[in-house]
Amino acid sequence: MISVAKSRVAVITGAGKGIGRSTALGLAARGVRPVIVDIDANAAESVAAEARQSGVESCAYTVDVSQVEPLRQMIDSVLHRFGRVDILVNNAGVLSKATIADLSEDEWDRVMDVNVKSAAFLSQKVLGSMAKRHWGRIVNVASLAGRCGGQSAGCAYAASKAAMLGLTMNTAKQVAKAGVTVNAVAPGPTDSELFRGFSSQDIERLEASIPVGFLGKPEQIAAAIVFLCSDEASFVTGAVFDINGGMFMG
Ligand SMILES: NC(=O)c1ccc[n+]([C@@H]2O[C@H](COP(=O)([O-])OP(=O)(O)OC[C@H]3O[C@@H](n4cnc5c(N)ncnc54)[C@H](O)[C@@H]3O)[C@@H](O)[C@H]2O)c1
Repeated sequence: MISVAKSRVAVITGAGKGIGRSTALGLAARGVRPVIVDIDANAAESVAAEARQSGVESCAYTVDVSQVEPLRQMIDSVLHRFGRVDILVNNAGVLSKATIADLSEDEWDRVMDVNVKSAAFLSQKVLGSMAKRHWGRIVNVASLAGRCGGQSAGCAYAASKAAMLGLTMNTAKQVAKAGVTVNAVAPGPTDSELFRGFSSQDIERLEASIPVGFLGKPEQIAAAIVFLCSDEASFVTGAVFDINGGMFMG
């Protein structure tokens, strides 16, 4: 079984639902204390309660990750309460279907702020705590759209997810000697609420294009994230895990 030393503390954004929720529960099952961050207070509280059923401490923070200052205050509060942050999963994300032709400045900013800016400034804020123990794991949730432009996702979404890959590799190089690994997962179509933002026609088209013939499940993406957060993954950094049923084989 993949091991993550017990008592570690993980901050997971967008953990109220979908991939983030499955990741938080997967880490809790291994004894990690998950901090559930989400804009949806009820969803966040309910996942923290589920995580506590694994016998670990867990708490919820209601934060809009697009604002940097509240994110910094949240991490200060986590450090005050737990004394450490060992794992950061930058998972919160919003879908946008605007094409280059109908993209607005507001839409660009909304998508980039939630999907990328949050990851950059949260990583900056937690690195000190990780370096202190010479152990840290950051996992950025990108997308197949960031690898090959996307089929139904829009321009800002694909750009934000490609930016996550550059952020991952750049940060990984900066912090490798400090015992901190930084990796990305790039999921293909995964059955979550975000995915339901597509029309049934889009979903049928996407399903038909998946070589394995089925949509991903949040738990299948979370399993890869949990591995990247483990002790066994110490030799993996700056990597992108493509999890897409064979849609992109590099
Ligand atoms: N589902 C897919 O097909 C798919 C494919 C590739 C990548 N992804 C990525 O996976 C990640 C998780 O997506 P999911 O499919 O689990 O979606 P989801 O909609 O089920 O979950 C996303 C969570 O993020 C939260 N969130 C949204 N905006 C937020 C904000 N401003 N501040 C804080 N929390 C916020 C939502 O409340 C929700 O709980 C996203 O980054 C998404 O882009 C998803």
